[in-house]
Amino acid sequence: CGIVGYVGPQRAQDVVIDGLRRLEYRGYDSAGVAVVHQGELAVAKRSGKLANLEKELADHPLPPAHTGIGHTRWATHGPPNDANAHPHTGGARRVALVHNGIIENFRELRARIEADDHAFLSETDTEIAAHLVELQVQSGVDLPVAMQRVCQQLDGAFTLVAVDAEDPDRVVAARRNSPLVVGLGDGENFLGSDVAAFIEHTREALELGQDQIVTITRDDVTVTDFWGRPVEAKRFHVDWDLSAAEKDGHDWFMRKEIFEQPRAVADSLIGRRTTAGLLALDEMRLADEEIRDLDKIIIIACGTSFYAGMVAKYAIEHWTRTPVEVELASEFRYRDPIVDQTTLVVAISQSGETADTLQAIRHAKSQRARVLAICNTNGSSIPRESDAVIYTHAGPEIGVASTKGFLTQLVACYLLALYVAQVKGTRYGDEIDEIMVQLEAMPDHIATVLEQAESVYELARAHVGTRSVLFLGRHAGYPVALEGALKLKELAYLHAEGFAAGELKHGPIALIEDGLPVLCVVPPRGRDQLHGKMISGIQEVRARGALTICLAEEGDRKIEPYADHLIRLPQVPVLLQPLVAIVPLQLFACELATALGHDVDQPRNLAKSVTVE
Ligand code: G6P
Repeated sequence: CGIVGYVGPQRAQDVVIDGLRRLEYRGYDSAGVAVVHQGELAVAKRSGKLANLEKELADHPLPPAHTGIGHTRWATHGPPNDANAHPHTGGARRVALVHNGIIENFRELRARIEADDHAFLSETDTEIAAHLVELQVQSGVDLPVAMQRVCQQLDGAFTLVAVDAEDPDRVVAARRNSPLVVGLGDGENFLGSDVAAFIEHTREALELGQDQIVTITRDDVTVTDFWGRPVEAKRFHVDWDLSAAEKDGHDWFMRKEIFEQPRAVADSLIGRRTTAGLLALDEMRLADEEIRDLDKIIIIACGTSFYAGMVAKYAIEHWTRTPVEVELASEFRYRDPIVDQTTLVVAISQSGETADTLQAIRHAKSQRARVLAICNTNGSSIPRESDAVIYTHAGPEIGVASTKGFLTQLVACYLLALYVAQVKGTRYGDEIDEIMVQLEAMPDHIATVLEQAESVYELARAHVGTRSVLFLGRHAGYPVALEGALKLKELAYLHAEGFAAGELKHGPIALIEDGLPVLCVVPPRGRDQLHGKMISGIQEVRARGALTICLAEEGDRKIEPYADHLIRLPQVPVLLQPLVAIVPLQLFACELATALGHDVDQPRNLAKSVTVE
């Protein structure tokens, strides 16, 4: 989501809307603004793109206030309608508040004050924060202290920005694991999810740390921690232009999205357990009984989402002992598939609007199958037509080639596998806990891989003259090889193919010639023979002149003699390795395409969401 706050001499509504326009890439399913005028709040909010809100404001402008906050939403809790749009207010409409992130314990907090007769107007996790802050200011403390006290009670990741109608000259914001920066003006100050929100007004900014609260007035900015202790914030100068600012300093949205992956994965893992420690899905209209009765799971998807489905097969079958088929959505209904009420069809779609996938789930439903969607777009067609949904929390993906969408789909697939294992009892609670702990470590592992970006870029630039690239993988590394090749086709327009390494000797090895680059996803060493078999495959291609670029885990010495180039991956279990192994392949494709002069965000002939069959 995108967040803006303002105090100063300009008309708050205009500054906030301009800021939201710059942040719209962060979310665009609803938008809203609140200003403080003569001791009262004025709020406007609308579902859909920012243009809907702008039209509403053109017809009914807010009063000419000088303090305001705004929000452009990417729904996480509750569908994108007017009621769920931010800002939210407390029951007395004294405090208005916007939020980015997820408040994990909102149900408990809400139950606590619902008992005191608080009526809630939305299904969001945010509204509780507005109520709690308002209760605090009504008890007599000022807005910064109210914010501190509320933040101390919240679990999860959040940026909160609030105004108090009775305290019209300041805006207070808090941040934990979610972005927030301060723009320092002359007689005016700004808040934004990123500098794009205020770059047309100032390039001087303050960086906030975790668990900090900032109060802005026209002439002053004060930063404290959640307990009110003063904190020194770091000042910086923004030297990007506006378009780079929207991309957070990157040249492409895709590159920015690759670097957002640790956060996207962390967000997709937040709030998945009940207080009793059990896994819970977002929308579940399937009874445990139905899950226990499942005979088979069929995953349907297109493009990158299909490769996420291939990884899911390895995880679901291993953890749940339920047979899984993975099928291209465009093929599914035309082959007269065997589907009935004991089949769970899992549709994976970042956009939720892909026509091939939508038609496939309609066919599955007509055959009485149950349908579960894994989707990044709240309220889109595919989740609407499904019996259950796991939402990924990647935030909007702008680059046509999917990156953070893919990683968060993998997370959702692992969660689904563990959920089925929990319900069917094929894994014990402590095994599930152990895998969850491993998953929770993945954002840090992904960040470690991203630290090697420069050396991957160098390698990519050295391949501008290459006409063809092969990718090899085994087990869960096989779909990674396919996805790595797809990225290169999509972005660099190169001939690129992924193979299961064991299949090499049955044909593809004939393609190997002197100097042909072969990217190899080497499985972790583990206990079985996967690793050794992969090394044999790599030896075979290298003996025939291939140039091998190997992705292998830290500490793997056996690979060294066979790798012309080595990219190190963190040590993780084989089933989770796709989450780290795909990252260098994304960086490679992005950089090679850039070096070739292609438009990385909008590759030729492709569309982000294909709504025709
Ligand atoms: C298009 C995009 C691909 C994407 C595929 C599936 O072809 O160009 O990047 O993987 O659609 O999209 P979905 O939104 O269903 O995941």
